[in-house]
Amino acid sequence: MQGVSSLDELTAVRDKYLSRQRGVLALEMRKLGSLPSAERPAAGQLLNRLKGVVTEELERFQEELKSSANAVRLKTEFLDVSLPGFPYPEGKIHPIRRVWREMEEIFVRMGFSVETGPQIESDYYNFEALNIPKGHPARDDQDTLYISDNLVLRTHTSPVQIRTMEGKEPPIRIIAPGRVYRRDAVDATHSPMFHQIEGLVVDEGITMADLKGSLEAFFQQLFSPDTKIRMRPSYFPFVEPGAEVDVSCIFCSGKGCRVCKGSGWIEILGAGMVHPKVFSMVGYDPEKYTGFAWGMGIDRIAILKYQVEDLRLFFENDIRFLSQF
Ligand code: PHE
Repeated sequence: MQGVSSLDELTAVRDKYLSRQRGVLALEMRKLGSLPSAERPAAGQLLNRLKGVVTEELERFQEELKSSANAVRLKTEFLDVSLPGFPYPEGKIHPIRRVWREMEEIFVRMGFSVETGPQIESDYYNFEALNIPKGHPARDDQDTLYISDNLVLRTHTSPVQIRTMEGKEPPIRIIAPGRVYRRDAVDATHSPMFHQIEGLVVDEGITMADLKGSLEAFFQQLFSPDTKIRMRPSYFPFVEPGAEVDVSCIFCSGKGCRVCKGSGWIEILGAGMVHPKVFSMVGYDPEKYTGFAWGMGIDRIAILKYQVEDLRLFFENDIRFLSQF
C-alpha cells in the first residue's frame, strides 16, 4: 500500500483489483473457463484465496487510515474549554434615566403620583399662570427657546402644576418629571436640554414644615439616612415664600471638600409655598388651601451620585462611557 495516503486513493486501489466488472481478479476468474478442466479447481481456489487476502489487507489499511485521520482531527480541532467566552453585548439603561426612575420610585413609595405635560408649552402655562407676567426677567430671550410668539420649549416642569390643578380638586400630591429647555451654551455644567422633577402638594393646612419633612425623607432615601437639608430664602414668582434647598454634602458629610467647595452643603433645588395668585389662576380658593412645590434637577443629582465631572458625557452617547453604568 505504499503511496496510498487517503481513503479516496484506497478506493482506487480496491477498484483496480476487486471491481466486479474490470478488476484484475474478476478478469482472471473469467479466464478460468479456458483452462483444462483438471487445473480449474486448483486455480479457482488460488484466486479465491488471493481475493480473501487482498480484501482483508485493504480493510486493515482502511482502519489504519481512519484512525490516523481521527488523530489529526483531535489535534487540530482541540477545544480549550477553559478559554473565557466571547463578550456578549448587553443593553443598558441610560444613567440619567436610572436616577430618574430611582427618584420617581422613592416619591411613589411616599404616596406621590406621576404626572406629565408637553415639552412644547404655551406662554400661558410656562409663564402667565405661574405669575410670571410679560416683561419679567425670567422670560428673557437669553433663557427661553421660543417656537412662536405664543409657544416655547418649556423652561421648567412647573407648567405641569397648572395643568394638574386645572384638572382636579385638592388634595393633590404629584411629581412631574421630564425634559426642559433653556438657551444655554454647552459646557461642563450646562446643557440646553436637561431634566427636572417637579413636586406639588396642595391641601388644607399644608405648611413649610411639610415641605421640609418631605424633601428630607426623600434625600435620606436617595443618598443616605444621615443626609440633612437646609433652606435659604430665595425668589420664584410662583411661590411665597420661596427657598433654595441645600443638602449636606454626600461626599464629605458636611465637613467640606472639593465637591461642596468647602461649604459642606450642595445647592440642589428651588422650592416654596404655592403663591396665592397661582391658586386664583386655577380657580382654587387661596383662603382655603395651601401647598408647596419644588423643582429639582435630575442631571445634577446624577452628576453627584455617579461623580461624573462633566455633564456633556451624559449626552454625547459614547458607548464606552454609558456601558459603565
Ligand atoms: N421652576 C423653578 C426652576 O426651574 C424651580 C421651582 C419649582 C421653584 C417649584 C419653586 C417651586 O428654577
